[in-house]
This record gives sequence, C-alpha cells and structure tokens, in this order.
Amino acid sequence: MSRVFSGIQPTGEPHIGNYFGAMQNYVKLGREYGKQSLYCVVDLHALTNPAAFDPALLAQRTLDMAVANFAVGLDPSQVIFFVQSHVPEHQELSWVFTTITPVGDLERMTQYKDKSGQLESVPAGLLMYPVLMAADILLYRADTVPVGEDQTQHIELTREIARKFNHSFGETFPEPRAVYNKQALRIPGVDGQGKMSKSKGETSTLGLFEPMDSIWAKLRVAPTDPARVRRTDPGNPDVCLIFDYHKLFSDLDTIQMVDVECRRAGIGCVDCKKAVMTGITAHLTPIQARGEELRDDLDSVRDALAQGAREARAIAAPVMEEVRTKVGF
Ligand code: ADP
Ligand code: NA
Repeated sequence: MSRVFSGIQPTGEPHIGNYFGAMQNYVKLGREYGKQSLYCVVDLHALTNPAAFDPALLAQRTLDMAVANFAVGLDPSQVIFFVQSHVPEHQELSWVFTTITPVGDLERMTQYKDKSGQLESVPAGLLMYPVLMAADILLYRADTVPVGEDQTQHIELTREIARKFNHSFGETFPEPRAVYNKQALRIPGVDGQGKMSKSKGETSTLGLFEPMDSIWAKLRVAPTDPARVRRTDPGNPDVCLIFDYHKLFSDLDTIQMVDVECRRAGIGCVDCKKAVMTGITAHLTPIQARGEELRDDLDSVRDALAQGAREARAIAAPVMEEVRTKVGF
C-alpha cells in the first residue's frame, strides 16, 4: 500500500512557490490517495528559526497555514491534515533517528549550510532538521513525498535513515521518493535573490493572500533581464523571473506573445509585468475569497486540525510501538 506525506512550515505567509511547488500537488494527490495522504503543518520545524520564538505568532501562523491549504482546495475531511506538535510520536522517532545519523551527513546538507552561515550561534535543532523530517515521513511509512526541488537532499537522507534503521533493527520502513511539480521545481523570489522562500522574508515572496496592490508594488521594481537596459533593447525571457511567473499564471497565448515580443523589443518590461499581473489576479482572487470565508470560521479549522491529529495518531502510535519493541524500550 502506498502512502503520501508532506509538511509545510508555519514560518511566514505562504507564497506562490509553496503553492505551485507543493500545495497544488497536495490537492492532486489528496484526491487520489484520500486518507492515505497526510499533510502536516510542521511547527516543530519552524522553531529552528529564532524568529518563531513568539507563541501567539507561531499559533497564528499555524492556523493560517491550515487556512491556506484549505483555501487552495485541500479538503480536510478527505485527507489527513494536522499539526506536527499535536502528534508527539514525531519527536520520539526523531530521537531514535538522531542516534543512527552521522553528524557529517547533516553538516553537508546545503539548506543547513545556507541557513547556519547567516547565524552567529547555530541552534542544534537546525542541524537536526532533516532528522525530524525523516521521522515525519517514516512515522507513517509514507513512500511518496510531494515537495519542491529544494528538499531533494533531505529526501535522500530520509532514504538513508530508513536503510540504516532497517539494517540495524530489522525491516521496518520503506524508502520514500520525492514527487515534484515539474513546472515549478524552484520558483524564483521576486527580489531576484534566488529561490522564493518564507524564511527570506517578504521581499522575496509573492504571498497567496497578499493584496494585489502590494504584489504589483513588488513586481513593478522586480529585476528583469539585466542586459535589457533601454526599452528598445531586445530581452531574453529565459533569464527573466517575470517570464517564470508567466509560465505559472498566464494562458498559452500570452506566454507565446511575451516570448516573441520580448526578444524583439516589441513589448517593454512594464507591459510584460502588467500582463502577468492579470493572470495573478485571476488565479489568486478566488483563493483569497475562500481564505476570507475560512478565517471567519476558525473554530471549524481548529476542529478539522484536532480530527486530523486523531487520525494521524491512529497510524503513528502502532508504528512507534513497533519501533520501541525493536530497539528494546
Ligand atoms: P519555505 O522555503 O518558503 O520556508 P517550506 O520549507 O515550508 O517553505 O516548504 C514547503 C514546501 O514548499 C516544500 O515542499 C518546498 O520544497 C516547497 N517550496 C518552497 N519554496 C519553493 C519554491 N521557491 N519553489 C518551489 N517549491 C518551493
Ligand atoms: Na524550505
């Protein structure tokens, strides 16, 4: 039997990178796998960023992330949707996994290197992040993990941890594989500073619930092809992040028009940005309306999360019990 697991951090406003890279696949796989698909707001992971040391804010963002997923079409009654800290087995399994994971492997993770490089004092939790992630996935014996490309290395480590555990304690866990949205492997940030990411803050992100005037303010000043200085210079859409956004939001005619007209300076960057804004508005307006409705009824959202935690725990508890027996607890 096949099972899906994926997690998303409540570190900030969900953005179009999360949406196209991961959340759309949650909805798609959720329809296919039903209760054999689990989606988790990973608040324990969020704590690895000191900016999350604000209890009211963390609780708020955890709820917001649930709202975001329900607003894009994930139905909590059809899948299992829950909050990581509500299921304590994640932490228990994580500890067992820390004991079989070489520190050197963790130090080699590029996400760890990127994030720790910006800190004066590195919390041990940041180093352990991928171990907890392996526990998240393997606790449900999930074999299918919808994620963005930035998670490839972590999934590979999860496979190694599964192998190592199975070798040391007997066959227990499958080796999961990542599944990607090939159209949205790594959506660039609107500031032109690499991958769009919540942890880089709002200069990087276009939020799923961001007002259209705020999105436009960021797009208007977003960098385009640096070689296109004057309006009359031809541009190269292949190096332009606005063109990446067109591929996500615009219809085929618009994408083709932009591709041709940019290369022969038929349109300017402002025209091109206005055209993508049309697609963004059409896409995000209904999602934002649905989000508003859900925010008017947060009690239902909390109920759905409580029910999700019960369903998740019903799967997790016997797996953890098996692990305890196998290691001798
Ligand atoms: P963030 O990096 O914004 O904090 P998370 O770590 O919570 O996001 O990741 C949630 C999901 O969104 C993961 O599956 C991740 O791979 C995916 N994701 C995040 N940023 C992007 C992006 N820029 N492009 C595609 N997928 C992304
Ligand atoms: Na990330």
